[in-house]
Amino acid sequence: MKNKIRGMRIIVSDTYEEMSKKAATIVAAQVNLKPNSILGLATGGTPVGMYKELVKMYNDDEVDFEDVKSFNLDEYYPIDKTNNQSYYYYMNDNLFKHINMKEDNINIPNGHAEDIEKECYEYDKNIYNSGGIDLQVLGIGTNGHIGFNEPDLTFESGTHKVKLDDETIKANSRFFDSIEEVPKEAISMGMKTIMQSRKILLLANGEAKAKIIEKMLFGEISPNVPASILQLHPHVIVILDKEAAKYIEDKVN
Ligand code: F6R
Repeated sequence: MKNKIRGMRIIVSDTYEEMSKKAATIVAAQVNLKPNSILGLATGGTPVGMYKELVKMYNDDEVDFEDVKSFNLDEYYPIDKTNNQSYYYYMNDNLFKHINMKEDNINIPNGHAEDIEKECYEYDKNIYNSGGIDLQVLGIGTNGHIGFNEPDLTFESGTHKVKLDDETIKANSRFFDSIEEVPKEAISMGMKTIMQSRKILLLANGEAKAKIIEKMLFGEISPNVPASILQLHPHVIVILDKEAAKYIEDKVN
């Protein structure tokens, strides 16, 4: 089942695996059409299957990452690269160590930066100087965050340091031994940076995301539901599994 809502392409897949395959096909198509693409990448549970598919496609010679450059959305703060909970570690483990991207072309905010303001400024400058993001992959938090842009009264524009919401800390504690170990802060791309991406691919699976997906697509555009701003982006593809699409299926049919 496929449809368009407010300019957004909505694809509902039967399973997580199917969602992941479709997402990987879109990323690979982007890279095949423009081998020196600038990709914006996300971490978390959602895109793990997509990365697995991309590695498979790379091994089958269906996609080549030699000239690709990437910018990750976010990183915990403070955290060391070598910490196995860092997004640096995650990206290496799930994608980079399996493909042929050049190390110099990989960008992830430095979770150990001494001068955060400088780190954020340089990160945005680097994205800008690279020509901007061609395809930004996003997940979504149950509170509507994209990157770590948490619900707020205003939209933060550039890369910045954020205080993580209690809901985010709780959700992410599943990856840690205890909730106390989850970092309380992070560095995240801002909304302007995300919105300036030429194309956006947002993925969501599981029932826990169903309510926020409905709000993101049909609710009012508000910094209280950060992902709702995507209604204003001209080129968004949303891929959901059936559970995440639970409250919108009749609307997109
Ligand atoms: C991760 C990120 C976050 C996650 C979101 C969903 O880089 O920016 O916005 O996409 O928290 O996380 P999962 O996929 O674990 O449900």
